[in-house]
Amino acid sequence: MSDLVNLIVDVHDARWSEEVDSSARRAIATLGLRLGPSDERTLAWIDAEFGGGWSREVFLGDAIVAFDDDEPVGFAAFDARTLSYAWLRGVARDPGVGLFGPVGVASAYRGGNLGKALVALAILALRSRGYSRALIAAASEGRLARYYERTIGARVIERFPRDQILGRKLRTVILASGNGSNAQAVIDAVAPGDLALDIVGIVANRADAYVLERARAASLPTNVLLWNRSDESRERYDDRLLDAVRSWEPELVLLLGWMYLLSPTFIAAFPRMLNIHPAFLPHDASKDTVTMPDGVVIPAFRGAHAVRDAQAASSPWIGASVHRVTAQTDRGDVLVRSPLRMSDHARLPLVEHEILLRAIRLFLFAS
Ligand code: GAR
Repeated sequence: MSDLVNLIVDVHDARWSEEVDSSARRAIATLGLRLGPSDERTLAWIDAEFGGGWSREVFLGDAIVAFDDDEPVGFAAFDARTLSYAWLRGVARDPGVGLFGPVGVASAYRGGNLGKALVALAILALRSRGYSRALIAAASEGRLARYYERTIGARVIERFPRDQILGRKLRTVILASGNGSNAQAVIDAVAPGDLALDIVGIVANRADAYVLERARAASLPTNVLLWNRSDESRERYDDRLLDAVRSWEPELVLLLGWMYLLSPTFIAAFPRMLNIHPAFLPHDASKDTVTMPDGVVIPAFRGAHAVRDAQAASSPWIGASVHRVTAQTDRGDVLVRSPLRMSDHARLPLVEHEILLRAIRLFLFAS
């Protein structure tokens, strides 16, 4: 697999003139498109088109978006802040450096001038914000890096061999209550070395949870912690759960279909914890609705019965999200998410497995 590289563009270079700005705008107008800032619908469209891992970066910064009527067809993001990926610990820390990207164009518009025009406008936006250099971070070495070298005079400044970014494997505990197909997806990716985790244990809170079979088949240690409400207090059970997970000394805890509300003490004990949730959650955690790729606004469907609630509400959309776990249920930072039409709901498990692996990889890059 190719290495990742960081490229730098000097935005004070004479080539970044007013003329570049007006010709980019002309090119976009010629295509019959209009320009605007990113909105919630754009974020959902980006997830639908480009795999679900980019909208967070766009949410944390700004973007120039090309719209065909109200429909986004291309975007170039810039100036994302508060990201903590491994590749942002070098030159990215220089205050004169502004982050560029990601950039994406709908398939119908690829190969034309739209991408180039959006790239130029995002570079110019960084320049007008006072940055002296733009950083194109974590580009695959090869075609993409060469594209930026050729088209905008970028040069490689840092290089990250993929196997060195991750370093060692993170000790990971999985909590699951049922079937465990998400746990299986993780187990299957870890086994051949595709995911740098060391699964040190799996906890179930039901004796008949099929995830236990899966754990046994993979020779992974398990712990079944049942809560009998009639003879054990919630506090006592929470203590047992905390002790059990702590005894494995995890660096990462994954909630994969874990249907029991965790105590604030548990959540505080494991700050590196991710959850998979069967709904398309908004990046703005304070919101209770979310805009979908077609512009339809639906409830955020948090809580234990997200799919059932979406069906009961006749929602045209469902989806899946992987987010950090915080004390507020289903309101931690969303790392990766994917919208899914209700009519395609049978694909939900597959979509979940895909975004789960993607989210864990992103998380590892940020650890
Ligand atoms: C998944 O759909 C997951 O999103 C959901 O439980 C299912 C578990 O499937 N989690 C929640 O609803 C959490 N609130 P699995 O056991 O096959 O991985």
